[in-house]
Amino acid sequence: MKISVPKGTKDILPEEMKTWRYIEELFTDVCLNSGYGEIRTPVFEYTGLFDRGVGETTDIVQKEMYTFVDKGGRSLTLRPEGTAGIARSYVEHGMASLPQPIKLFYKITAYRYENVQKGRYREFNQLGAEVLGAESPNADVELISLLGNFFSKLDIGDLSLEINSIGCSKCRPAYNDILKEYYRDKIAGMCDDCKRRYETNPLRLIDCKEEKCIAASEGVPYITDHLCEECAEHFSSFRTGLDRLDIDYTLNKRIVRGLDYYTKTVFEFISENVGTQGTVCGGGRYDGLISAIGGNDVPGVGFSMGVERLIMELESRNLLPGTERIPEIYFVTVGEKSYAYARKISCALRKADVYTEMDLLDRSVKAQMKDANRKKAKYVVVMGEEEISINKAEILVMETGERKEVSLDSIYKRIIEKKV
Ligand code: HAM
Repeated sequence: MKISVPKGTKDILPEEMKTWRYIEELFTDVCLNSGYGEIRTPVFEYTGLFDRGVGETTDIVQKEMYTFVDKGGRSLTLRPEGTAGIARSYVEHGMASLPQPIKLFYKITAYRYENVQKGRYREFNQLGAEVLGAESPNADVELISLLGNFFSKLDIGDLSLEINSIGCSKCRPAYNDILKEYYRDKIAGMCDDCKRRYETNPLRLIDCKEEKCIAASEGVPYITDHLCEECAEHFSSFRTGLDRLDIDYTLNKRIVRGLDYYTKTVFEFISENVGTQGTVCGGGRYDGLISAIGGNDVPGVGFSMGVERLIMELESRNLLPGTERIPEIYFVTVGEKSYAYARKISCALRKADVYTEMDLLDRSVKAQMKDANRKKAKYVVVMGEEEISINKAEILVMETGERKEVSLDSIYKRIIEKKV
């Protein structure tokens, strides 16, 4: 029986990997240039980290985690996102005692048991960044401007940014009471998820996508009108910071995000090209996360974006990079001696970062020439036993068809010095 990839996962083949590498390298450069250091944490963590970090009332924890018991009887979970693991690492490595803030970025795979559809997978990739230990809205602004820089370099600088503030542990409880009051006579007609969340996390009722729930939320009071002084001031400074950098945004009072750890700033970059979800990138502030997982009271803010969705966005705008690699030189050989000679030069050139190609299938000269053409090699060096014996080889300039005879000894030097 043929075995295929598990549902919701996919192979990324060499052609596509070029785009991935391009995106990942660009992201790495943008992050390094803003003083962020790369971090890698394990693919699986103790389940309790996500229960406490992401939140027991979230869809992720309740329905979507890949949880298993290992042979030692421990409950482990494949990470559904990266922030909780990074917060754990921050606490575990005593990063709070280092000069603050700690600025980190990451490239990870994440796992959620979701309904698979366009732009929604069970294994997906995220690029993200986190700032730990900075309470100031300047950190929130820095992250958004880093993203703006990254998107501009990809030529998608016009992605829509939507922002909101969802308050903190001081103002949220009172607002939750206001919400419950508002929904009290509507909840019976809302979906089962909303009924469950009414008690545990009423904020999420606002962004339910079910039609009857959207209708019920028509006149809902928004938290932006009920923020405490500190949150209101933080949000206002955040917006001023964006304005000063001429960063366009829309205030979307319905953004509440699907993870429990958020406080104050939340934001999303939206596009209609990336499937029903529409979110290319999401993030926000999580001032209570580190203390919720056993650390001190340390603020945090960050984002992550789905690489698969980013690629969909680039694809739909015809912006996939032309990153085809073309061999500088293709050695066409006849016989063992010339093959061995060419292999030696080829190895030396590869060491000097020149892309060379050689046959691996004992092909005829004609077939090797065909392969060189197919690979669009710039130059072909033809070597036979006879040429070797008189210290000569023929270089063929593929674009013009021009042929030159050169001495074998000079090939390496000529190619390196581009004097072919
Ligand atoms: P999130 O909104 O759950 O936030 O995910 C961030 C991004 O990951 C989404 O905007 C989307 O592009 C991508 N994504 C999520 N689920 C899937 C899926 N099933 N298939 C494909 N792509 C997906 C977080 O994960 C937070 N950790 C973001 C954050 C970092 N907040 C603060 N710091």
